[in-house]
Amino acid sequence: MDAQAKKTMLRKMPHGVYIVGVRNGSDVNAFTGTWLTQVSFTPPLVALGVKKDSHSFEMIKQGRVFSINFLKKDQKAVAEHFVKPATVVGEKLKGVPHRAGTTGAPILTEALGFVECQVREIANESGDHAIVIGEVVEAGIHEDAPALTLMDTGWHYGG
Ligand SMILES: Cc1cc2nc3c(=O)[nH]c(=O)nc-3n(C[C@H](O)[C@H](O)[C@H](O)COP(=O)(O)O)c2cc1C
Repeated sequence: MDAQAKKTMLRKMPHGVYIVGVRNGSDVNAFTGTWLTQVSFTPPLVALGVKKDSHSFEMIKQGRVFSINFLKKDQKAVAEHFVKPATVVGEKLKGVPHRAGTTGAPILTEALGFVECQVREIANESGDHAIVIGEVVEAGIHEDAPALTLMDTGWHYGG
């Protein structure tokens, strides 16, 4: 395989940039994620790629819920903030306005809007990211405007 071509082509897949909120008991956390897509209308399912060695993956496995917060075009700094690994769980959310959603997962009140999911399946034994399939059980719009994409940021996560 042409490794450079693989990298170049995989990086051309369009992606959004989201803040994924997680909860396990009284612990809440959030991270920047981009590997997300809808995979069913009925029931409404989304698939999210989650790094297996992240704090958030452990919390998703235990808590079985997550929120997807859609960012505004001018919220790249928010995405930058949530890229950091959690040193203390919950620390990254301090100072970022949020509330608990119906599932308990954190909803960023200054984001464009959100969906909340209940975990239905976790797959991908061979990969370094798990595929977490969630059913959308709640949604809300704070502002109807275009969402931040990976291309807007100039960053890459893929290849
Ligand atoms: C542009 C960008 C996109 C990312 N997308 C994902 C993703 O889709 N899934 C994932 O698990 N991590 C993704 N990450 C990495 C996480 O944001 C990072 O591992 C984070 O530290 C995890 O936080 P935690 O330790 O609080 O769980 C991405 C990072 C960047 C810079």
